[in-house]
Amino acid sequence: MKLAVIGVGHVGLVTAACMAADGHEVVGLDTDTSKVDSLRAGTVPWYEPDLQELVDKGAAAGFISYTTDFSEALDGVDVAFICVGTPMMDNGSPNLSYVQSVASSIARHARHPLVVVEKSTVPVRTGERIRQTLALESMAHGGEMHEVVSNPEFLREGTAIEDTLRPDRVVVGADSEHAHGVMRALYQPLLDRHGCPYVATDVKTAELIKHASNAFLATKISFINAVARICELAGADVEQVADAMGFDHRIGRAFLDAGLGYGGSCFPKDVEAFIHIAAELGYDFGMLRETDRINREAKAWPLHQLRRLLWNVNDKEIAVLGVAFKPGTDDVREAPAIEVVDALLDDGANVRLHDPVALDNVRERWPEVSFCGGVEEALRGAHAVITCTEWDEYAAITPERLRELLAYPVVVDARNVWSAEGLRKAGFTVASVGSPLT
Ligand SMILES: NC(=O)c1ccc[n+]([C@@H]2O[C@H](COP(=O)([O-])OP(=O)(O)OC[C@H]3O[C@@H](n4cnc5c(N)ncnc54)[C@H](O)[C@@H]3O)[C@@H](O)[C@H]2O)c1
Repeated sequence: MKLAVIGVGHVGLVTAACMAADGHEVVGLDTDTSKVDSLRAGTVPWYEPDLQELVDKGAAAGFISYTTDFSEALDGVDVAFICVGTPMMDNGSPNLSYVQSVASSIARHARHPLVVVEKSTVPVRTGERIRQTLALESMAHGGEMHEVVSNPEFLREGTAIEDTLRPDRVVVGADSEHAHGVMRALYQPLLDRHGCPYVATDVKTAELIKHASNAFLATKISFINAVARICELAGADVEQVADAMGFDHRIGRAFLDAGLGYGGSCFPKDVEAFIHIAAELGYDFGMLRETDRINREAKAWPLHQLRRLLWNVNDKEIAVLGVAFKPGTDDVREAPAIEVVDALLDDGANVRLHDPVALDNVRERWPEVSFCGGVEEALRGAHAVITCTEWDEYAAITPERLRELLAYPVVVDARNVWSAEGLRKAGFTVASVGSPLT
């Protein structure tokens, strides 16, 4: 099939590359001309494992091209995916103006009826708004009547290609047999290859599945972070608690890693958006407000611990390891490390920051921070280290080497990168999430 992907960011480009890998012809459109120029020149302008290779393959086979022109993108396509951002606004609701703008452009430029797919994460009933916008624009410009489908995306940055080529499930919400048929045909190569559940629903149900899934995962993270606080106070070990809980197949071990809380471009905004749409519909989702509160508390934990262990933080040299919101990506949107570094700077600390791939995305934000090309450069002579992203290369540093590099033997391990026991044996004063505080 031939399809257009509108917005070739973290979700759109992965969608385009994976659809091309399954034999579809894809045109990617973006209003960011520098992104389109870079993709046309053959370079993916951010870090995501295996994405560059898959994009190269699709381009070499002639299955992916890029444009900034809607008429060109929509020419002869069966399906148009909306993959633009839905960032959080100050009141917690998502900004849906990019989605509406794309819907208007589709209605103005499409020369035949399309299946318009919302892949961006949107609140329940956004499909109705897209349908309304398409209809109003079509009436105004004598255009076609299009169908609207919800096909939420569940990929995780860092494993986006694997998640998209071999998803746990595909969810498609449509309100007509025709639209369901088109989407089923689009996903048939994936289902033949991979054979995951294909969940066909109406549009509203599919929209809700996405918010419910992300809100549940975020709540799981906040739950274990709350348990971690209790472990610290009681003198118990949260990792053993999580492991033993995880053996119960009704619970599962995933998303029970206590740490610095969730971040990234999805969970914080999706939790807020779900609270907001629930309230608009007349339901107070108080449980999710608590999920968010515990997450804020988790992000404040490192500085609280550092003050406890070092007394005054001002003028101290503090090594911060990791700024990406999780390993495997250079994405720093809503990264918990951002709040940690901001708080350290407010307290007058000298911050030496290391991250294997994400430093370029924060250089302009913090002119006063020392950006370190190597992890040992960040650690050498520092009064304490705080781990903010659990990159493998940090776990590989032995307690002995850490002891040689740091000026004071003080560790705030906000991601439980190292064994607290091992560090203590090597003579460190340690604050590890969810283990007894000494
Ligand atoms: N990043 C993730 O891990 C992830 C996972 C699942 C779902 N989502 C959801 O997918 C959506 C997109 O997220 P993302 O991370 O890919 O965002 P992104 O910022 O990486 O990409 C969005 C792209 O849309 C482009 N754009 C904005 N307005 C446009 C317009 N009018 N026409 C064409 N292009 C336009 C931007 O230039 C950008 O390249 C969001 O709703 C997000 O919540 C993201």
